[in-house]
Amino acid sequence: MPFQTIIEPFRIKAVEPIRFTTREQRVAALVAADYNLFKLRAEDVIIDLLTDSGTGAMSAQQWAGMMQGDESYAGARSFFKFEAAVRELTGLKHIIPTHQGRAAERILFSSACTAGQVVPNNTHFDTTRANLEALGVKAVDLRCPEATQPSLVALFKGNIDLAALERCLVENAGRVPFAMITVTNNSGGGQPVALANIRAAAALCRRHGVPLLLDCCRFAENAWFIKQREPGQAHRTPAEIAREMFSYVDGCTMSAKKDGLVNIGGFLALNDDALAAKCRNNLILTEGFPTYGGLAGYDLEALAIGLKEVLDEHYLEYRIRSVAYLGDKLTAAGVPIVQPPGGHAIYVDARAMLPHIPQSEFPAWALSCALYLEGGIRSVEIGSVMFGRQPDGTEKPAPMELVRLAFPRRVYTQSHVDYLAEVLLHVHGLRSRIRGVQLVEAPELLRHFTARLAPVGGALLA
Ligand code: F0G
Repeated sequence: MPFQTIIEPFRIKAVEPIRFTTREQRVAALVAADYNLFKLRAEDVIIDLLTDSGTGAMSAQQWAGMMQGDESYAGARSFFKFEAAVRELTGLKHIIPTHQGRAAERILFSSACTAGQVVPNNTHFDTTRANLEALGVKAVDLRCPEATQPSLVALFKGNIDLAALERCLVENAGRVPFAMITVTNNSGGGQPVALANIRAAAALCRRHGVPLLLDCCRFAENAWFIKQREPGQAHRTPAEIAREMFSYVDGCTMSAKKDGLVNIGGFLALNDDALAAKCRNNLILTEGFPTYGGLAGYDLEALAIGLKEVLDEHYLEYRIRSVAYLGDKLTAAGVPIVQPPGGHAIYVDARAMLPHIPQSEFPAWALSCALYLEGGIRSVEIGSVMFGRQPDGTEKPAPMELVRLAFPRRVYTQSHVDYLAEVLLHVHGLRSRIRGVQLVEAPELLRHFTARLAPVGGALLA
């Protein structure tokens, strides 16, 4: 086609109104939420970029598929459709549905790990880390060196550091139940992992007799980046690339709320018969029978369709471009973001933007509050509130202080993104007035979800 504009590859047939708030209303809402955006009422948010998880719009085909749901307790037709779709994608032997990603993690970890063990990953997501630490397992992040330099443009900043992985496997020989790679690397900026990196990590793990698993929430976005960026991959379909990614691993955990294009769902897939049997027993204990795993039959239908739709090239081109479109506008205006833009989100580098706020006063958290206050945008901190508390109770600053603006799939249009850019530029303009925040009260585990905070000087803006 001779035209350059990448359009949304869908028409809209059902709409949901956005409720507009005034700045005064948002001041009150923020105070009532204890300066924690997780505690806002969603109705008080204008553009909700808290997460890309479970927030997408399903297609007409998925909604139609839901009417075909077989709600039989055991052996439902919908399960076999779901199982066939996951097997076609992953090639893995045992496919176990779960209600979302962290259920797959908990079931796998509690079946495969014991206290004192070590699990390496490019970067553990918060729930992954917490589920391991809850069992007394050490979660080790082995980012490649480029990954911790936000402004550095590199093609595969999601890669696991292979030399560090080898050291970890040698030093902890006999104590590594499995290694993981997260695609794309969510906490590291939504950055992709190269096929070559997965292949090399798999060879390394095999040499040490350690299984390798993918945390594959965003496998399709990762496959699209491989197609665009990895030598020799441009001619392949995202589905072919995704299948190759899975061909190197012994299992995966999946939050289908991302690249499954569903509002709820997940799975665990494994080749190991004995481990799968143990996981299924654990599943029955808390999630449900192995052919529904905490989901309704109609959820399994929607997921089987979503896994195919997500690999459509027009969808992926639009998806990745719409994130980069915001990234380009911010970069042009000098707003510091993790470069290059990630697959599902833009990550603002709050340490670079707010150098006057020390990490002990959570600059990324403060910035996310300011974005809400000024423009009604909800984002999420990926910084020292989320990751600063160590298992022994001490504080250690996170490697980066990021504000993630995560894009729900097929939900917002280009004018929403233009609005976002305008708000971000406005907040960037008043950045020197933004003050730090402090914790007032926080639980020990996963504190960012429920903590109470307050601005250090009493007001968020000086
Ligand atoms: N792994 C990764 C890489 C994730 O991003 C998430 C969820 C999970 C596991 C857990 O899946 O939510 O279905 O239990 N990430 C969401 C986010 C919550 O906002 O990034 P879940």
